[in-house]
Amino acid sequence: MQYSFPPHPWKKMMVMSTRGNYKATLASAALMWFVTVCVGVPDPRQRDLIMHQEASRQTGGRMELTAAERRLDSHLHMLKEQEITAVPFLPAMHFFKAQPLIQKSKIFSLLQKMPKGAALHIHSTSLVSVDWLVKNVTYRPHCYICFTWDTSVRFLFSNGRPFPRWDCFSWYLLETLRANMDDPIGFDNSLIRNLTLFTEDPEKAYPNQDIVWEKFEKAFLAASGLVSYAPVFKDYIYKGLELLYEDNIMYLELRAGLSRTYELDGSTNDKAWSLRVYEEVSQQFMAYHPDFLGTRIIICAHRILSVYDVKAAVKEAIQLQKTFPQVVAGFDLVGREDSGRPLWYFREALSLPEQFGVELPYFFHAGETDMDGTDVDENILDALLFNTTRIGHGFAMAHHPLAKEISRKQNVPVEVCPISNQVLRLVSDMRNHPAAMLMSEGHPMVISSDDPSLFGTTGLSYDFYEAFVGIGGVRANLGTLKELAINSIRYSSLPSPLKQKGLAMWQKKWDTFLSENTQWEN
Ligand SMILES: *[C@@H]1O[C@H](CO)[C@@H](O)[C@H](O)[C@H]1NC(C)=O
Ligand SMILES: *[C@@H]1O[C@H](CO)[C@@H](O)[C@H](O)[C@H]1NC(C)=O
Ligand SMILES: *[C@@H]1O[C@H](CO)[C@@H](O)[C@H](O)[C@H]1NC(C)=O
Ligand SMILES: [Zn+2]
Repeated sequence: MQYSFPPHPWKKMMVMSTRGNYKATLASAALMWFVTVCVGVPDPRQRDLIMHQEASRQTGGRMELTAAERRLDSHLHMLKEQEITAVPFLPAMHFFKAQPLIQKSKIFSLLQKMPKGAALHIHSTSLVSVDWLVKNVTYRPHCYICFTWDTSVRFLFSNGRPFPRWDCFSWYLLETLRANMDDPIGFDNSLIRNLTLFTEDPEKAYPNQDIVWEKFEKAFLAASGLVSYAPVFKDYIYKGLELLYEDNIMYLELRAGLSRTYELDGSTNDKAWSLRVYEEVSQQFMAYHPDFLGTRIIICAHRILSVYDVKAAVKEAIQLQKTFPQVVAGFDLVGREDSGRPLWYFREALSLPEQFGVELPYFFHAGETDMDGTDVDENILDALLFNTTRIGHGFAMAHHPLAKEISRKQNVPVEVCPISNQVLRLVSDMRNHPAAMLMSEGHPMVISSDDPSLFGTTGLSYDFYEAFVGIGGVRANLGTLKELAINSIRYSSLPSPLKQKGLAMWQKKWDTFLSENTQWEN
C-alpha cells in the first residue's frame, strides 16, 4: 500500500497561477482579511508561532545556523523554488530518466561539494561503478566468460580453461573472444547491461517488484566472479573508497557477506582474509587521504538460509568480531524481505550473543516492504526487540506507531535509501516516500545509497538530491542537510573518541564548504 499525501502547497499555487487567477485570489483574500480582521480571524502572531513551532520539528529544524549558513540557505532556497516549479519535476520521475537532468542541477552540484559525512548503508558487491568492472577488470588477463541459458553471464579468472559447472557449460577466454569481434564496444555495453539495473525504459522493463528483484539478483551473480577474484577484490575496495572520497564522504560502513575470494589457481581465501584486506586497503587509502576516517564491516548472512545456518553465521560473526574488533561493526540479514524469512523466524539464532553474554551489534534491514500487516512487516518491531543499532530502510516505519516511538526514544535511526526504494518499486514519486513524514517529525535518520553501482550512481549525492528536493520538499533546508550529515557520524558504529574526531573533521570541511560557496554574495 502506498501513501498518498495531499499535494504540496506550492503545487496548488502552481495550479492557481497557471489558471491565471492566483493574484486575484490573493487580492480577494487580503480584502477579506481587512474586512473580517476583528471577527473570527485567528491572531496572525499566533499563526506565525505555530507555523514556526511545526517547522522546528523537522529534521534540522532546531539547527542554529550561522550567518554564512543562512546566506547559503537562502541561496539554496531560491534554487529549490526554481527547480520545484520546473517541468518536469525530477524527483517525480524514475531515477534512470532523471539522472542526466539531475546532473545539470545547481542544487546537485552543491550537494556533490557538500561534506556528507558517512555512507552507512552500502553493499560490498555494488560499491564500484560497473563501467570500471567492464572496462578495467574484464580486460585483465586470464578472464573467462560464459553465457548462461537465461541470457546472463558469469566470469572467472583462471590459469586454464575452467571446468564446466551447473550453470556454465562452456567458458571462453575474453581476450580471444574480443580479438575476433566486430563490435567490441557493443559487446562491452551488453556486459554493462548485465551488471546493472539501468535501462532506458524502466517502467516497461520492470513492471513489478518480482521482475526487478529477479534482475537485481542476476546482476549480483554476474558481478560476483569479477569482484571475488582476490587481486581484483583489493583494487575494488580501493577504487570504491576513491569514489566515495570524490563525493566528499569521509567514512564507510559496508555490508558484506564476506564470501570466499579465489586465486588464479582456484584456491580460495576465507572470511578472515577478506577482513584483513578490508583493514589493510583501508589503511593504505588513509595513508594517502588522512581526512578519511576508515571502513568498518557489517557482516551479512542471507535471510533465505535455515535457522541452523544463521546460528553458525552468528557464531562466526562473534568470533570474527573478537579477532577484528576495529573492523567488524556487527551483523545483519540481507536479501529481499518479502520473499525471505522474517527476523522472528531466526529468533534462536539472533539471541545467541545475549545467551553467550557477548555483544554483537545488529544493523537489521527491516521494513523494506509495502506489504502492510504481513510477517515481514513485523520485522521493524522485531529488529527493535533485538536491540538493532539502526534500521535498514524502515520504509514501513510510518505504519508502525509504536515502532516509531521506540526507535525515536532509543535513538535508532532509519537508513533511508531513496533511489533504491524507487528502482525496486516501493515508491515512484519521491514526494510520496514515507520518509517525508519521518523527516517532518525529525525522526532520527541518515541517507544512503544501498546498491549504487546497480542503480548507476556512485557516492551519496544523488540520494541526497532525492531526499532534499523530493522527500524534503520546499521546507527541507540547509539545517536539514547539516543534520543529516552530522547524523551519519553520530549514528555510526565508531567508538566515541573516533566519533568526536570525525565530527571535528567534518566541521572543518563544512566550514571550508561554506566559505567556498558563499562567495557569490561578495
Ligand atoms: C585498472 O585499475 C588498476 C587499479 O585501480 C589500475 O592500476 C590500472 O591502471 C587500471 N587499468 C586500466 C586499463 O584502466
Ligand atoms: C548479457 O551479455 C550477453 C553477452 O553479450 C548478451 O547476449 C545479453 O543480452 C546480455 N544480457 C542483458 C540482460 O543485457
Ligand atoms: C535488549 O536490550 C535490553 C535492555 O538493555 C535487554 O534487557 C535485552 O535483553 C536485550 N535483548 C536482546 C535480544 O539482546
Ligand atoms: Zn540494503
